[in-house]
Amino acid sequence: MLKKIGLIGGGYIGGVLTQEIAQRRLAREVGLVDPAPMPNPNDPPERQEVIKKQSVSIGKCLDIAEGLPTIRKDVKVVGSKDYSAIEGADLIINTAGVPRKARPDGTFPSREELLTINLKVTIEVAKGIQKYCPNAMVISIANPLDAIVYTLDKRLTPKKNMLFGMAGVLDSNRYCYFVAEAARVSVENVNAVVLGGHGDDMVPVRSSCQIAGIPVTKFLDADTLAKIEARTRKAGGEVVGLLGFGSAFVSPAWSALEMAEAVIFDKRKILPVCAKLEGEYGVNGLFVGVPAIVGKNGIEKVIELDLTEEEKAALVKSVAGVKKTCDEVDTMLKSL
Ligand code: LAC
Repeated sequence: MLKKIGLIGGGYIGGVLTQEIAQRRLAREVGLVDPAPMPNPNDPPERQEVIKKQSVSIGKCLDIAEGLPTIRKDVKVVGSKDYSAIEGADLIINTAGVPRKARPDGTFPSREELLTINLKVTIEVAKGIQKYCPNAMVISIANPLDAIVYTLDKRLTPKKNMLFGMAGVLDSNRYCYFVAEAARVSVENVNAVVLGGHGDDMVPVRSSCQIAGIPVTKFLDADTLAKIEARTRKAGGEVVGLLGFGSAFVSPAWSALEMAEAVIFDKRKILPVCAKLEGEYGVNGLFVGVPAIVGKNGIEKVIELDLTEEEKAALVKSVAGVKKTCDEVDTMLKSL
C-alpha cells in the first residue's frame, strides 16, 4: 500500500480511479484535484458566486467517502480545487484535459485535435506536480496521450523510468476482448499487445497474439483478424460515438490501475506502456507504446519484440504520427 496517490482531473476517469483505489485499498490517502466548475464571467454575479462554491472533486470525494463505511475501507479521500490535494503523493495519475466528445452531427475530433487545449492544461499539471510532489511516479492518461507524456517530460525532472503513459494496456485489452468474443473463449485466455502511438495508426501485433499460449491464427482466419485489428485501432472512437457525452472511462481507469498495481506490488509485470525510447525500436527521444517490465521503479526494462516486416512498417508509420504531434508540442512550448 502507498502512503498517498494523487489524482489530477476529476472527470469520469478520475471518479472511477478514486473509487477503485478505495475499494482496492491501494493507498492510505487519495487526493483528487480539479478546478471545475469555472464561473462564466458573463453570468450575473449571484450565479458566479454559486458556481464558485461548487467543486466536482470535493463533491466526488465526499460521495465516495460517505460510502466507505459500507465497503469497510479505511482510506482518506480528499478533493480540492487546487493542487495542494496532491501534496506528498508517491504516485500521480493524470487525466486532466478535455476528452473527445461527439459533435451534434455524430462526428468527433481525433485525439491529436485536443492538443492545443490540453497542452495548456498539461503545463499547469506539470507546475502542480513540480510544486507538491516532484519525486512522485507519474502515469498519464490525458490525450493526445504520447504528446502529453512528452510535454510532461519537457516540464518535469523525473527519472526517465518514473514517467510513462497508459494507452497500450487499454488498446491491448480491447484487442483481447474482440479476439475472445470472436473465438468464443474466455477473455482470461487471450494475450495480445498493441504497439506504437495511441492514435488510429496504433499497431495490434498479430504475431504476439495468443489464446492459451497458442497462436491466434489457429483460431481465427486472416480476414477476421484484420477486421478485429481495424476495430481495435478505432475502438476509442467507437465508444465516443456511442456515449455522446465523452470518451471511455471505466476501461482506461482499470488499465491505469493495472499499471499502478504493477508498481505498488513490485510485480515486474510485462505491460504495454507509453515509455521514453532511447534507441529501442529505432526510436530516440519520443514516448511510444512498447512492452516493458513494470515494477517498483516504474519502467524496469523495455522489451523489444521480433516483428514481421509488415508490423515493422506499421510501427514506423505510427511513430511518424507521434513525432508530428510532438513537433507541434515543441513549437507551441516555444511560443508560450
Ligand atoms: C480511449 C481514450 C481514453 O482510447 O484515449 O478511449
